[in-house]
Amino acid sequence: MPASELPRHVSIIMDGNGRWAECRGKPRIYGHIRGASRVRELIRETHRLGIHALTLYAFSTENWSRPADEVGALMRLLLKWLGRERREMMRNNIRFRALGSVERLPADVLAVVRETEEMSRGNTGLQFSLALSYGGREEILRAARRLARRAARGELDPAAIDQKVFSRELYSAEIGDPDLLIRTSGEQRVSNFMLWQLAYTELHFVESFWPDFTAEHFRKALRSYASRERRFGLVKPKAKEATA
Ligand code: FPP
Repeated sequence: MPASELPRHVSIIMDGNGRWAECRGKPRIYGHIRGASRVRELIRETHRLGIHALTLYAFSTENWSRPADEVGALMRLLLKWLGRERREMMRNNIRFRALGSVERLPADVLAVVRETEEMSRGNTGLQFSLALSYGGREEILRAARRLARRAARGELDPAAIDQKVFSRELYSAEIGDPDLLIRTSGEQRVSNFMLWQLAYTELHFVESFWPDFTAEHFRKALRSYASRERRFGLVKPKAKEATA
């Protein structure tokens, strides 16, 4: 596939780990472990293709309300996974970011998140982000509060708040909006993920549960993206109209 037809920024809602495990009579965490190994393969593939940014929804603000043993197991998995994967990230010039209210993470997880962000700060290859303790509405409210505080201090004219100024206050300020969103497990909703950023994103839904998501599913999503015409609310470009 020509690089010009690839999305610049891919985001994924990795859904269905629990159901994948339950179908096999295993504990839900077993699905998360298999899911985490899919993440490693996906990062490799995205890096290999030269895609600019990859953002994965790993833990939502709502996920804090899951049973304490599942939350604890997910946090331990994250800690181990990041500790292991960051060597490969550094080898491959991958920059890591965490998007979300990460201050809610346990101290050891937060420490490894911050260390990985710090050590990869200068990396210019794939911009890889994990949405952790992330909620789209919470992100928008946080941005609104930050701007309101600056306005109240007299540092910002409310009339100057446009989309660009607002976007700069979002967790995604440095990575921008996804071009393609993939969601696994057959659910067709965005579930509070990047609500502002998905305004013009192309959506692609996959029936398989996340632990079964393969490189072939990924390539199919990329081919589907390449076949679409993005108009951003405008009319068809003249050149395409002539050949349609
Ligand atoms: C959704 O499946 C998945 C999650 C809530 C967590 C996603 C986590 C991973 C893929 C593994 C950890 C990631 C890293 C990078 C270490 P679900 O539990 O909601 O599945 P269900 O809808 O079938 O219950």
